[in-house]
Amino acid sequence: MNKVLVLHGPNLNLLGTRQPEIYGRETLADIDAALREQARKAGWELVSRQSNHEGELIDAIHAARLDGTAGIVINPAAYTHTSVAILDALNAFDGKVIEVHLSNVHRREAFRHHSYVSLRADGVIAGLGSRGYGLALEAVMADA
Ligand code: DQA
Repeated sequence: MNKVLVLHGPNLNLLGTRQPEIYGRETLADIDAALREQARKAGWELVSRQSNHEGELIDAIHAARLDGTAGIVINPAAYTHTSVAILDALNAFDGKVIEVHLSNVHRREAFRHHSYVSLRADGVIAGLGSRGYGLALEAVMADA
């Protein structure tokens, strides 16, 4: 069965209550449940992980290199703007990578305008809220 990994970076465990005017009222569990259902309907297995720790996100990317994962949907959250290490890990992954941001990072503070992960991402979706994850998943599954 085709497999896709969804990775959520730091503070995204607080979705629903964290700055809902920016990030919306849906929880991470809501988002993951919808993605799992979308993948299931297409005959895909979806594994979802959230971590507040850079190294755990990197370990999950390394595991995806070895277990046949076809693509990664990643919202690296604040690590987007800081993490060469996550970029390096993604560069070592051969499948599709789609970067997602709930908010339109380009309409926000200047430090959010640069993304290390975009140097590797095959596609980037920002500003469409949780719908962005569904579109990213569609893109991974369409190309496999
Ligand atoms: C975010 C945008 C980042 O700048 C921020 O640090 C986040 C979430 C988004 O989904 O809009 O934590 O990735």
